[in-house]
Amino acid sequence: MPQSSHPSGGAPVAKVRHFLQMSDFSAEEYAYLFERTKIIKDRFKRYELYHPLRDRTLAMVFQKNSTRTRVSFEAGMGQLGGSAIFLTSEASQISRGEPIEDLSRVLSRMVDVVMIRTFKQSMVERFAEYSRVPVINGLTDEHHPCQILADIFTYIEQRGPIKGKIVTWVGDAVNMLNSWMQAAKILGFTVHASTPPGYPIDAQLLAECGDSVRVFEDPLEAARGSHLVTTDVWTSMGFEAETEVRKKAFADWCVDEEMMALADPSALFMHCLPAHRGEEVSAGVIDGPQSVVWDEAENRLHAQKALLEYLVVGEVKS
Ligand code: CP
Repeated sequence: MPQSSHPSGGAPVAKVRHFLQMSDFSAEEYAYLFERTKIIKDRFKRYELYHPLRDRTLAMVFQKNSTRTRVSFEAGMGQLGGSAIFLTSEASQISRGEPIEDLSRVLSRMVDVVMIRTFKQSMVERFAEYSRVPVINGLTDEHHPCQILADIFTYIEQRGPIKGKIVTWVGDAVNMLNSWMQAAKILGFTVHASTPPGYPIDAQLLAECGDSVRVFEDPLEAARGSHLVTTDVWTSMGFEAETEVRKKAFADWCVDEEMMALADPSALFMHCLPAHRGEEVSAGVIDGPQSVVWDEAENRLHAQKALLEYLVVGEVKS
């Protein structure tokens, strides 16, 4: 239900929902969010005004670079009738050591929702613990749930239900893989994951996901029969010093035409972007007919608008 007063107006709100990792929401909530994403996207395409977040404010805290996440959240808030404030470590008191708990207490008395992109998942968890308003993970080293929200919506939009399908992850054992693994367990699909030797998948998460995840030494075998093949850069933000070592280690973990030929004929290719053609993906695949990367990027906007609406005003019928 919509909030009748701002959370800053009284005692701390007892139970605030946050979106810090995929496991924070249920299958039913994801079904609702995907329905809302379609409705909100269709409205946007018709240039229909829709302002459920009029006078609401999003604070965006970025401790890592971004193109898609910043633009989709900032544009999305504006399109929903609200506004967004962009904060970086350097241009705020974060770089001068203001405790995260204090930042959370202050921001959450001034705005209605907070999005954070940072390094450690523990930072967003600590922020959320002290926040009176919903907190969204806009990427940490461990999770990237907003991207997976958009990716699954993109799959459903293109191919129908994802339940029972195979999603192949080829490449580094990064935040994206972790979020895919959590989503598989909740939504009933299987992840085939292949990472190079020396880049192991989080063992605890693997154990939690059980049969939802199958690990392959050979990336080509991981792709066999898959309905969606996806990857990410070989060197994620924060690991730039390892670039040359990683280029050698990941050389066989490139999604190319040979790999896509082993997947199901209906298979899609996704990449969260930015991409490096000739490294983790060939130009022929990312620019080819199975690639949906531009729809995927656009759907960050629509999926996050549905997420913002849900977290700030709750379920809506219209
Ligand atoms: N995919 C993604 O999160 O893009 P940005 O790093 O540009 O935000």
